[in-house]
Amino acid sequence: MVSQVPFKTLSELQRVGERTLPAGVREYVQGGSEEERTLRANRDAFGHYHLLPRVLVNVQEVRTDTELLGRKTPQPFFIAPTAYQTLVHPEGERAMARGAAANGVLHVVSTLSNFSLEDVSDAAPGGERWFQLYVHRDRHVTESLVRRAERAHYRALVLTVDVPVLGTRDRQEEADFHLDPSMPLGNLDPEVPPSRLGPLTQREHAEHRIDPSLTWEILGWLKERCGLPLLVKGILSPADARRALDEGASGVIVSNHGGRQLDGTPATLEALPGVARALGDEGEVYLDGGVRRGSDVLLALALGARGVGLGRPPLWALAAGGAEGVRRWAELLREEFGNALALTGCREVKDVGPGLLFQK
Ligand code: FNR
Ligand code: LAC
Repeated sequence: MVSQVPFKTLSELQRVGERTLPAGVREYVQGGSEEERTLRANRDAFGHYHLLPRVLVNVQEVRTDTELLGRKTPQPFFIAPTAYQTLVHPEGERAMARGAAANGVLHVVSTLSNFSLEDVSDAAPGGERWFQLYVHRDRHVTESLVRRAERAHYRALVLTVDVPVLGTRDRQEEADFHLDPSMPLGNLDPEVPPSRLGPLTQREHAEHRIDPSLTWEILGWLKERCGLPLLVKGILSPADARRALDEGASGVIVSNHGGRQLDGTPATLEALPGVARALGDEGEVYLDGGVRRGSDVLLALALGARGVGLGRPPLWALAAGGAEGVRRWAELLREEFGNALALTGCREVKDVGPGLLFQK
């Protein structure tokens, strides 16, 4: 069947996605913080490492499946949580959920989704999902959120810890990007009053809700209230990764929020080996930031990640082609990843390891 989506390759998706996003939303999605050094570094880091293929391995049968937090999945990548998806498509997170489920792709749903976490589940029953948590200033709100996520069969909590305050986002500020305070936020209490009337900057919108006083105490607090495994997202330091495990997490996501928070942090791919060494076999290590191609997924796995998240690419796919765009994006990425496995002489994900890295 000829695909109806307006991109044939992942490179084309990047160009089409950027063109499709409305002005303002484009700067919100594409932008990073301050001078965007970290945003660029995330992508550039994939050019700093090289793969050393092994040849004459029978790769007639190649398998891309793996396990994330002990659950089988057809591919070692997932959709990273991104807020306010109706900005890019009227069906927002519901269309994202349908596109993800069509390929069995794990979908991480943001606290700041426009549809409620239950609505997102109902849009694609049987889809595999984790819930990303921003801890609200009101702990009752947080408690109710995590209980709802567990009831709606989300399989893990992803606690994002790199947004005590919002980063300085010049690109979206210069584009005058604002959010309508009446935009539905399906997961949060509609009675939370906007800090003032009229359109809000994203800083006003987010900081009004997210608790800046959060400390490590939150991990134990969550473990007492919710039986789901916990991942901590936004870790760059090996010491913080260890601490996360000591406080009850099952693993961490090495992330700098796609270069949107502190400018000047290392690329996630460069921070990954240190974190992976610090955790050894004791916890699972994931990465997001700058992953675009099948060979990127392979590199991250060779450097110690169990799986990788992608933030902007599924948003481009959603903007360009709705649920079908997301489905096709995931299919292309899985095909590319399978191709990269075969070309490095790997028959399955278990064959990927540091031996694939080129050392001068
Ligand atoms: C994000 N990210 C994010 N993270 C999170 O934990 N909760 C959220 O609500 C959001 N919202 C959000 C919106 C947009 C528009 C973007 C681009 C990103 C960060 C996201 O989960 C992930 O860390 C990065 O997007 C990964 O980098 P790439 O793949 O976009 O390069
Ligand atoms: C962002 C927040 C909402 O990066 O996570 O825009």
